[in-house]
Amino acid sequence: MTHYISSKSTALSGHIKIPGDKSISHRAVMFGGIAEGETLIYGLLNSDDVMCTAQAMREMGAKVSNRGDGVWSIHGVGKGGLKSPKKPLDMGNSGTSTRLLLGLLSGYDVTAEFVGDASLSKRPMARVTDPLTQMGATFKSDGKDGLPLTMQGSSSLNEITYKLPVASAQVKSALILAALNAQGTSTITELEPTRDYTESMLQAFGVNVTCEGLDITIEGGQTLEGCAIDVPADPSSAAFPTVAALLCAGSDLTLNNVGLNARRDGLYRTLVDMGADIIFKNERTQGGEKVADLVIKHSPLNGVEVPIERVSSMIDEFPIFAVAASCASGTTTMRGLAELRVKESDRLGVMAKGLKECGVDLEEGDDYLIIHGTGAAPKGGAEIVTQLDHRIAMSFLVLGLVSDEPITIDDASPIMTSFPTFISGMKDIGADFRGEDEPENEPLELSLDTIEHLN
Ligand code: S3P
Repeated sequence: MTHYISSKSTALSGHIKIPGDKSISHRAVMFGGIAEGETLIYGLLNSDDVMCTAQAMREMGAKVSNRGDGVWSIHGVGKGGLKSPKKPLDMGNSGTSTRLLLGLLSGYDVTAEFVGDASLSKRPMARVTDPLTQMGATFKSDGKDGLPLTMQGSSSLNEITYKLPVASAQVKSALILAALNAQGTSTITELEPTRDYTESMLQAFGVNVTCEGLDITIEGGQTLEGCAIDVPADPSSAAFPTVAALLCAGSDLTLNNVGLNARRDGLYRTLVDMGADIIFKNERTQGGEKVADLVIKHSPLNGVEVPIERVSSMIDEFPIFAVAASCASGTTTMRGLAELRVKESDRLGVMAKGLKECGVDLEEGDDYLIIHGTGAAPKGGAEIVTQLDHRIAMSFLVLGLVSDEPITIDDASPIMTSFPTFISGMKDIGADFRGEDEPENEPLELSLDTIEHLN
């Protein structure tokens, strides 16, 4: 456990490098791992979560190697080539690795045990194992809905026609990946549009996937051909320095190459609605994804009502968005947040508790959060239990940059799952973050000699 303390900071300025998109990185490693030939990935996120996926693919026969400078090479096992892993697949903290691999392995004659950390072990898996069981895979757990879980896939999986009961890209992707190796044609219907990287990246690997409205149709038995994947910077990671710069007076920050897929950009649209000064420069398409360079300037924010249909396009951003809302003038209303209760932590409960401890006036319901901002930063001064949740850890470190009293987080290590360079990068642009065992920044004391010299 590494305690970290965040204290009031001056303007954040310059440039911070945002690492590669986590969702795209997981998929690139998985799909490269089952493709024929070599896949080259540029700008892969080298974080704990993605390395869980990489290690799992290695244990099932793929060759995954880091060529340096963000370039990774994957030699896939080719059609039908995945082998049963010899030891349990350690999924760490990563829900995306777990759920997508459960789907992928369902179509192979393999046995695999999935294990994870304390946070992941509590997260619901029945949302994927129920439909995968219908298709013909089998799963054994110790009776609770979570990990550890042992599965037996089948090379004669049945096709499925399935309407998702939750808005979830992970469940959708698990079923698409199972359908890829099933007999016949499957149709998966989304409840609401969610991130579509599985669909678009499979197409880049030469797979025929049809998307019409909320329906995704895929025929089983198709082969993936290795290709090149360019990974943009992760908009969910960029969200933390973006909000930090909006809140810290005098800030002027640039973030390059940020992915702005229309199913991921909800936070940015909402911040602009609140009055944020964000310029989206050099909008372009890179590797099939919309990207832009963001220039963010400190801005006073006004409370808003987040349109409910926008929730899934900013599902991972609510912790940091709640920080922005806490410093805005007026009330911000967020509804339709039930899914936040089953993320790396119960994000709705953990944010509401931590913000209250920092002096924020709010109302928490089963699936909503209403924050009454005063237009000034809250008092702060709390010690936050981050519950193995990287986004909770980063959100409260950002709030500490503007709160009256420093904010401490009990454990910064989960940040390694998605944004390993967060603390060093933020310090470089002016954030006052300090590990518990590091000395406090002393106010600059000038000696008499120096003062005379300056005169
Ligand atoms: C993800 C989907 C989302 C998101 C997660 C990554 C993905 O989860 O919260 O961080 O890569 O498909 P759900 O599908 O559970 O909403």
